[in-house]
Amino acid sequence: MHETSKRYIQQRKSIGFVPTMGALHKGHLSLFRRARDENDIVVASIFVNPIQFGPNEDYDRYPRDIEGDIAKLERESVDVLFLPDVKSIYPATFKTFVYVTDLSDKLCGAFRPNHFRGVTTVVNKLFNVVKPHKAYFGQKDYQQYLIIKRMVEDLNIDIEIILCPTIREEDGLAMSSRNSYLSSEERIAAKIIYKTLLEATNLIRSNLQPSDIKQRMLQMLLEENHVKEVQYAGIYDPESLDELDEIKRQCLVAIAIKIGETRLIDNFLVDV
Ligand code: PAJ
Repeated sequence: MHETSKRYIQQRKSIGFVPTMGALHKGHLSLFRRARDENDIVVASIFVNPIQFGPNEDYDRYPRDIEGDIAKLERESVDVLFLPDVKSIYPATFKTFVYVTDLSDKLCGAFRPNHFRGVTTVVNKLFNVVKPHKAYFGQKDYQQYLIIKRMVEDLNIDIEIILCPTIREEDGLAMSSRNSYLSSEERIAAKIIYKTLLEATNLIRSNLQPSDIKQRMLQMLLEENHVKEVQYAGIYDPESLDELDEIKRQCLVAIAIKIGETRLIDNFLVDV
């Protein structure tokens, strides 16, 4: 991959990069298309990164479909697939981690210790190998995008980080590789996330206080029987991720819940 990228750079070609963990869906495809539009060469990586999963999380059963993924990459005219194995990313001698303080401990970070440290470490390594000019991330994982933006700025990494809109199923559920874990009843129940985000958006626009909106969000989510746990739900500052006590020009409405054993997240950025 090093050599391939060096060759493209010598030829003055621009490289757009989309890191993924595979089990590709239309959300991922939208990132490939954006990268295709904006670059000479599109590189995708597929790597299920063990160090971003907690000990009781789904690393072992994370969906893997490399044949199906390759067919999709070909259809989207992705030029290069970088498909490293765990031993070449993390050899026995591996000792270095990249950790963005503060932002990594909020929202999802509070429930997934070390998750974002795993993400920033692997993304930094992938950036060093692929050497892209631009890299593409989905808004579905807004906190991940924000942390990677921070990392790139703080470590003077010369890569433009681009945020792409969340792609949804027809009923509003954000596409996710983890949606395949849901039973058919849980899948129907999962609509409540999008409904709650819409309701919160309406309440923001009608000038309700964030604490009242949060109460309404919790109530809606908990009324759904399949919702086993609400990890967070509320209105946050889109830069600091702190909970807001008054509505600002732009706010992040974000939700993380468990439906059965499946953890699902989603968010809207709302401009007032
Ligand atoms: P993964 O979950 O495979 O997601 C890869 C990229 O696709 C991320 O930028 C994610 O935000 C984006 N994405 C996922 N679902 C989306 C949707 N419905 N609409 C738009 N974009 C969507 O995120 C990761 O992998 C990993 O943490 C990674 C960055 C690869 C590091 O291991």
